[in-house]
Amino acid sequence: MFRRATISLALVAASLATLAACRPGGVRRPALVTKANVALGDSLFNNGSCQRCHGKGGIGAANAPTLDGKKWLQLKTGSYDEIVKIITEGVAQAAIKDPAHRFSMRGRGGPMNLSDPQVQAVAAYVWTLSHK
Ligand code: HEC
Repeated sequence: MFRRATISLALVAASLATLAACRPGGVRRPALVTKANVALGDSLFNNGSCQRCHGKGGIGAANAPTLDGKKWLQLKTGSYDEIVKIITEGVAQAAIKDPAHRFSMRGRGGPMNLSDPQVQAVAAYVWTLSHK
C-alpha cells in the first residue's frame, strides 16, 4: 500500500516535471536554453554586433530581419540547432533573401569572434525571442 502510493507520487512528480519543461506551444525547451545562457546571450546580442543589424531585442532593422519567428527568411523551423548553425556560419552575401539587407552576416558575430559556448548562449537568447 505504502509502496504503491510512493510510486504514484513519483509518477505524478515526473509528469509535472515533463509538463514544466514544455513551452506553451508544445515545443520542449532545448537543454542549452538555460537562464544563465539566456542572460549571457542577451548581453552579448544587445551590446555586441547583432543588435547593430537586427535591432535591440532582435526586433529587426534596415539591414537585418526581425527574429520573432513569425516568418523566417533563412531558418526553416527556427530550431535551436539551426540558430547555432547560422550564428556560427553567418549568411553570405549571395545567400541573402531580402535585397533590402545589404550586408552579409559574418560568422561568430564577426569582430566579436564568439567562442562555441558564447554562440550557444546567443542562440539560447535568440531562441527565446520566438518562443515567448
Ligand atoms: C551586418 C549585419 C548583421 C549582423 C551584424 C548580424 N546579422 Fe544576422 N542576419 C543578417 C542578414 C542580412 C540575415 C539574412 C537576411 C536575409 O536573408 O534577407 C541574417 C539572418 C539571421 C538569422 C536568421 C533569420 C531568419 O529570418 O531566418 C539569425 C537567427 C541571425 N541573423 C542572428 C544573428 C545574431 C545572433 C547575430 C550576432 C551574433 C547576427 N545575426 C549578426 C545580418 C546581420
